[in-house]
Amino acid sequence: MAIILGIESSCDETSASICIDGEIKSNIIAGQAIHANYGGVVPELASRAHQQHIIPTVDHAIQQAKIHKNDIDAVAFTRGPGLLGSLLVGTSFAKAFALARHIPLIEVNHMQAHILAHFIDEPKPAFPFLCLTVSGGHTQIVLVKDFFDMELLGQTLDDAAGEAFDKTAKILNLPYPGGPLIDKYAKDGNPDAFKLPEPQIADLDFSFSGLKTAILYMVQAQEKLNPDFLQENLPDVCASVQSRIVSILLNKLKKAAKQTGVTNVAIAGGVSANSGLRESLLAMGSRYQWNVFIPKFEYCTDNAAMIAIAGYQKYLKNDFVGQDIAPLARMHV
Ligand code: KG4
Ligand code: ZN
Repeated sequence: MAIILGIESSCDETSASICIDGEIKSNIIAGQAIHANYGGVVPELASRAHQQHIIPTVDHAIQQAKIHKNDIDAVAFTRGPGLLGSLLVGTSFAKAFALARHIPLIEVNHMQAHILAHFIDEPKPAFPFLCLTVSGGHTQIVLVKDFFDMELLGQTLDDAAGEAFDKTAKILNLPYPGGPLIDKYAKDGNPDAFKLPEPQIADLDFSFSGLKTAILYMVQAQEKLNPDFLQENLPDVCASVQSRIVSILLNKLKKAAKQTGVTNVAIAGGVSANSGLRESLLAMGSRYQWNVFIPKFEYCTDNAAMIAIAGYQKYLKNDFVGQDIAPLARMHV
């Protein structure tokens, strides 16, 4: 039997999870509401909040899994990419825990973990599969050949898809993080109400900064004609923005599937919680006869269950690291 403790602290969620023989028994997430006051994550405040949350979050995860901390066989932690001060808290905790309990330490790449969240529950994708990983910091199309053998096929040249949602929300006077709110308002809006441009970017790369500017200019022009434009049209604006972001993402995914001939297609990361993206991917999948894999909501945004499951796969391979390990703000899949 293998009991893994997973620790995630790359951004603004402190999370701990217990995985027993590949099954997730707990996944506790402590969010940080403080950042809403600043319109985005403030790194210094995030580190301090991680430091406050980490012990109670780990205790809660151990309690909920109904195990004793002496039973844990290995500790897996997010090494990067992410905010360095935040990563340092999780890394230092994991190192101290492993040292004190004389158990192995496992480093996990956060972007790989978002993808490996697909191995928490059935149905699990068969290799190779394509994964569109869309979060607040990244937008990537990855060819997943094996658990830790991943090839980056395309990525954003500027803003991430989550940033496109969050920056648009700011233009629309919605609080941070705006992605879930745009999703909510879009449900009552007309996606064809406002025409927004689709950037022409080569290969499998993305760009979202032009879209953000186009939205800003459109709102400014409309507000000149009607100062109450946003109050009166919020659902239509949100639906139009969401529909354009989704079409940019899925057109590239369609291109990747065509180029590689791979028909197992997954999405991962915070933006994969978006209902428009989930619905459109399912529709595209049935049109092109793909096997589509969409994570449960709780495994889309940052969580430690994905770290624990990735850690479990490394545990099976005896893939451990020493106490000299340091976190990295930048890491590739
Ligand atoms: O993966 P994640 O939790 O953190 C990072 O690693 O970045 O992703 C957070 C991002 C934020 O930009 C947030 O606005 C976006 O995911 N997000 C959504 C939705 N839920 C979260 N974007 C659109 N629709 C949603 N339902
Ligand atoms: Zn993430």
